[in-house]
Amino acid sequence: MAKHGSLLYAFSIILVLAVSLLSEATDQEDRKTYIVYLGSLPKDRLFSPLSHHVGILESITESSSPSNLLVRSYKRSFNGFAAKLTDQERGRLANMEGVVSVFLSTTYQLQTTRSWEFLGFSEKVKRNPTVESNVIVGVIDSGIWPESNSFSDEGFGPAPKKWKGVCKGGFNFTCNNKLIGARYYIDSTARDEVGHGTHTASTAAGNPVEHVSFYGLAQGTARGGVPSARIAAYKVCGSEGCSVDGILAAFDDAIADGVDIITISIASETAPPFHEDPIAIGAFHAMEKRILTSNSAGNYGPAERSVSSVAPWILSVAASSTDHRIIDKVVLGNGRTLVGSSVNTLELNGMSYPLIEGKDALRSSGCVDCEDGCLDPDLVKGKIVVCRQANGSIEAHHAGAIGAITSTTGSDVSFIVPLPATSFSSKDYDVVHSYLNSTAKPLGNILKSEVIKDLAAPTVASFSSRGPNNILPEIIKPDITAPGVEILAAFSPVASLTDSSEDLRHVKYCMLSGTSMSCPHVAGVAAYIKTFHPNWSPAAIKSSIMTTAGPVNNTSNSTGEFLYGSGHINPLKAVDPGLVYETSKDDYIKLLCSILDEASVRLISGDDHPCSAKTGKKYPKDLNYPSMAGTVAPRTSSFSLKFHRTVKNVGLANSTYKANIISKSGVDIKVVPQVLSFKSLNEEKTFDVTVSGRGMPYGSHVSASLVWTDGTYSVRSPVLVFSL
Ligand SMILES: *[C@@H]1O[C@H](CO)[C@@H](O)[C@H](O)[C@H]1NC(C)=O
Ligand SMILES: *[C@@H]1O[C@H](CO)[C@@H](O)[C@H](O)[C@H]1NC(C)=O
Ligand SMILES: *[C@@H]1O[C@H](CO)[C@@H](O)[C@H](O)[C@H]1NC(C)=O
Ligand SMILES: *[C@@H]1O[C@H](CO)[C@@H](O)[C@H](O)[C@H]1NC(C)=O
Ligand SMILES: *[C@@H]1O[C@H](CO)[C@@H](O)[C@H](O)[C@H]1NC(C)=O
Ligand SMILES: *[C@@H]1O[C@H](CO)[C@@H](O)[C@H](O)[C@H]1NC(C)=O
Ligand SMILES: *[C@@H]1O[C@H](CO)[C@@H](O)[C@H](O)[C@H]1NC(C)=O
Repeated sequence: MAKHGSLLYAFSIILVLAVSLLSEATDQEDRKTYIVYLGSLPKDRLFSPLSHHVGILESITESSSPSNLLVRSYKRSFNGFAAKLTDQERGRLANMEGVVSVFLSTTYQLQTTRSWEFLGFSEKVKRNPTVESNVIVGVIDSGIWPESNSFSDEGFGPAPKKWKGVCKGGFNFTCNNKLIGARYYIDSTARDEVGHGTHTASTAAGNPVEHVSFYGLAQGTARGGVPSARIAAYKVCGSEGCSVDGILAAFDDAIADGVDIITISIASETAPPFHEDPIAIGAFHAMEKRILTSNSAGNYGPAERSVSSVAPWILSVAASSTDHRIIDKVVLGNGRTLVGSSVNTLELNGMSYPLIEGKDALRSSGCVDCEDGCLDPDLVKGKIVVCRQANGSIEAHHAGAIGAITSTTGSDVSFIVPLPATSFSSKDYDVVHSYLNSTAKPLGNILKSEVIKDLAAPTVASFSSRGPNNILPEIIKPDITAPGVEILAAFSPVASLTDSSEDLRHVKYCMLSGTSMSCPHVAGVAAYIKTFHPNWSPAAIKSSIMTTAGPVNNTSNSTGEFLYGSGHINPLKAVDPGLVYETSKDDYIKLLCSILDEASVRLISGDDHPCSAKTGKKYPKDLNYPSMAGTVAPRTSSFSLKFHRTVKNVGLANSTYKANIISKSGVDIKVVPQVLSFKSLNEEKTFDVTVSGRGMPYGSHVSASLVWTDGTYSVRSPVLVFSL
């Protein structure tokens, strides 16, 4: 599905160069923009990051004007800079003391509203409006459409006092008491011309707006998870993708501006190591300031190991269905009706039209199927083009066909089409194909899309990126799944609805799918939790969301936890979890000590002796994470893995929890102690979980759940062992 690129709104990585600065590279050398990550800001008050950054550049370049090489300085929330460097200079920098990492500033590609009702989170849930209006959600995305009704500030008072940000949206861009801040790091405006950022911002924290629909489909009230919260928009993505140096600059600002939650629906195709991963770096420094980051898992499924959001301090979100699906029917000339996947708002006057196969309508012999520029307008005029290529409807529309029938591997999600068109699973496409073959005059009628009930929901979408985690296999990623299929939310009225340049439709509310859409749902829930527990750490909020998650319907043969982590988000339960797994900055530092050299960890943490014997290392398996995973080497005859954990009581002061193991697999799981008795709130108790069993063949897994119950609360952690 990643091939669908913009259709899926999965902004992934592409190379972005600061074009305006190219002229500065007078020394005829190829310069590229690199990020030079220097870790935490020194505590020294006299430290001047900018002169430090220029000083470093001076020491490694022969260029006569080193300061012209500087693209950005990160200096508000962490230390580092982006600069245009030659290969040689990059090499010199990488070996320099004080430098954690040097990596290319690539471009990440960007990857409603019944969805909240489906989560049992109705408009009438108990809220703390006064506290909620003090919550600021930072949205790092493609900007925002400030005039959208979803961001009107009717009924909002002035921005919270803690807000230190600005409204620097560029020409003709005005903030208000709802949209309290805007900055841009790409283009010359924070205005959203793509639609993605407007959509995600309104899903996280948009106002309730009644009677919206997508051309009559999915009619209802669009709203965010925390409608009274404020929004700050940080634009790092344009139509070509999202610049990595911009993503870091946005984190640097958002943290210092005083946002409470960050939502970032941007992912790369593969997970870089943490110290070269802009989202992991930004989210780490956000975590230090007690800001939780919700991040899309990515739209690179169903391939295994496709999840790129892998750091344990991030909440990584998969995408799943809701109980409503958009489908589109086709009636063939032989009377057979087939159900396809598309969001098709257009009708063919109830009439049947001739079907023609793409391969029989080619403009030239070098062409195959419905590739760009391949269809002959004369041959497709007045006809419905049939071709296997998933995005064939774009070319069919371009060539002037009246409709299109294509094939898709992801028939569990519908995308907007520019003309009457739909996509079939390979099996149904074959039915169309044999009908075509069976008659001299094949006919078909494509109906308008309709909404159907989906009894299998929630199921994880085929496009959703999955584990295992390539960097730390012992940390299950994604962490959670949330609605990300056919979500209606606010849109930019100047953005295109499809990849077709002939599609001139514009809307204020649009239906999109992707982990980009599920991510802000989780950010909204995190913000909601924060309104009840303003002092909870990011880890406690994350733990609440994970340990209260509900079941996901199994539609695939792969390991379920790699699709959905702890399960399907349940906002109302998440606000009152009973117990939480706390993870401190120190815990993460100890974990980093087990995977990076101490010098780097010293810089990242700002601590002189982060990995000393006293503080020590912590292996990933023993990080106090709300899920548990361990790996076993294949061909060992038996295994035994021990997980050490600590839980904190946030439920009832006097409470006694018992350990329950739910397991269908033939492994032995022991919890010691089996009973945890608390006498007060915030009291902590530790326990060990030992999983043992016979050797496992390569690639296999066993999974179970540990549930702590006290009669009121159920605190569930998946326990997963896999061979690798
Ligand atoms: C400012 O933006 C709004 C919304 O796009 C537009 O209607 C208005 O004409 C713009 N004003 C100027 C002066 O460009
Ligand atoms: C359709 O997909 C193909 C292959 O993924 C790509 O090369 C082509 O540019 C796409 N066409 C359009 C119009 O997006
Ligand atoms: C189409 O028909 C021809 C001959 O009638 C047959 O050989 C071929 O297998 C058919 N193809 C399909 C896809 O049904
Ligand atoms: C799972 O999906 C099937 C249909 O595929 C449905 O019949 C079943 O009720 C679903 N199970 C749950 C627990 O929702
Ligand atoms: C799981 O695999 C079996 C055998 O390969 C197959 O028959 C079945 O359809 C698969 N189930 C799903 C839900 O993919
Ligand atoms: C899902 O079902 C398949 C068989 O239908 C099974 O092999 C697989 O283990 C199940 N996954 C989970 C997570 O239950
Ligand atoms: C907890 O229970 C003990 C005895 O069982 C009792 O003395 C104490 O008051 C209780 N504390 C609270 C906060 O309910």
